[in-house]
Amino acid sequence: MSKATRRSFLQKSILGGLFYTVGIPFLQANNSIESVNLDSEFKLETNNYNQIDWKKIRAQFLFPKNRQYLNTASLGPSPRMVVNTVCKTIEQLETQCSHGHHLTKKTHQQIAQFLNTSVDEIAVIRNATEGMNIIARTLRLKAGDEVIISTHEHVGGAAPWMALQKDLGIVVKLIDLDVEGEKNLQIIKNAVTSKTKAIAFSHITCTNGMKLPAKEIAAFCRSKNIYSCIDGAQALGMFSIDLTDIQPDFYTSSGHKWLFGPKGTGVFYMHKKWIKKLNPVFVGAYSDSKYDLNSLTMEYRDSVQREEYGTRNAAISLGLGSAIEFISEIGIENVAKRGRELANYFRKGLKDIVEIEILTPENEKFSASMITFKIHGKDNLKINQQLNSEYKIRLRGIYENNLNSIRVSFAIFNTFKEIDNLLIALKEITKN
Ligand SMILES: Cc1ncc(COP(=O)(O)O)c(C=O)c1O
Repeated sequence: MSKATRRSFLQKSILGGLFYTVGIPFLQANNSIESVNLDSEFKLETNNYNQIDWKKIRAQFLFPKNRQYLNTASLGPSPRMVVNTVCKTIEQLETQCSHGHHLTKKTHQQIAQFLNTSVDEIAVIRNATEGMNIIARTLRLKAGDEVIISTHEHVGGAAPWMALQKDLGIVVKLIDLDVEGEKNLQIIKNAVTSKTKAIAFSHITCTNGMKLPAKEIAAFCRSKNIYSCIDGAQALGMFSIDLTDIQPDFYTSSGHKWLFGPKGTGVFYMHKKWIKKLNPVFVGAYSDSKYDLNSLTMEYRDSVQREEYGTRNAAISLGLGSAIEFISEIGIENVAKRGRELANYFRKGLKDIVEIEILTPENEKFSASMITFKIHGKDNLKINQQLNSEYKIRLRGIYENNLNSIRVSFAIFNTFKEIDNLLIALKEITKN
């Protein structure tokens, strides 16, 4: 290394170290990679619903052709485009010794556009559960405050509030939902008292795939000064979501289910009216707009991305952006229509099996791309295992809320043939 080069290197190192302590400017100092060169694209000839090439879409997924996977509600496999983005980004960032934080800006823009909201209301987090924890802690509730949740919540949507009950003495009020869907808004309204501070509910329940009237619940919450906190783990990527229309206070979701994004990604939304009013619970580099250690002064960024403090995995964030591009290429309305078409086909087939009760509401207003059913007189959790081991059909047993039932997810790679196979298997099982 020449003297001049060494001097320049030292200057850069010192500046780099200095900038690291002040959050945002570090971004500017370390953005030598403007973009990652990806040739991972997916294009359809047409996204006219009746002409969509579903076989081409299926071929984008890496799992074997004969694998009958109907469990996207638990874990959505990623298409090649997403896998390529993650792998190539890691490789290029490692080549450059860069964390690539500045590249994730694109993902925020993609999510904001996908959810029809503004970029500053969006953050990429690790999963839906992390988002519900952020919400629960950010509200700074006190002993005696009430939070309403339902018996249909996933552990990730319920545990953060149960933890506050243990830690702070808040009161978690459990409500039972109407499994037909119609009465849920009223049930929620009836549970509210003068102590209610938040209502946390699933946009689509993980149990029976029931859709809740998110917009109406959010509007009711606004009218009562109650925080609306939506767990969208089973909704994001399943159908079109417009957060400007729903106007919740908070929305959290997984990236790894219906969006088919990388594992370890989630989406978090906070309505802009709260960004200045509610301080973040955890902070670090990138949380601040102004930071000076010597005078102990710090101001937070006017963006929910202050939740993305510290060094993160930019590759999976970019992969999440690719997942949105993949779905957008098909069209989210088409994705929703396909899921519903497959679900309706299955529902029709189930009606021939008298032992089976369908637990998902029939009304399309309260259902989407999942169907939960129960075979009477049988241990459904065991049957779920049998379907996996003997028939090679992967579903999910529902033990939550003692439902003793089986859930089927209908994603864009699933086929009518797979549903026929499942119906044949169920007919055989119910006969024995
Ligand atoms: C409704 C609901 N909320 C939260 C979660 C947890 O999601 P994550 O693993 O992304 O935290 C799930 C997972 O199945 C879910 O169905």
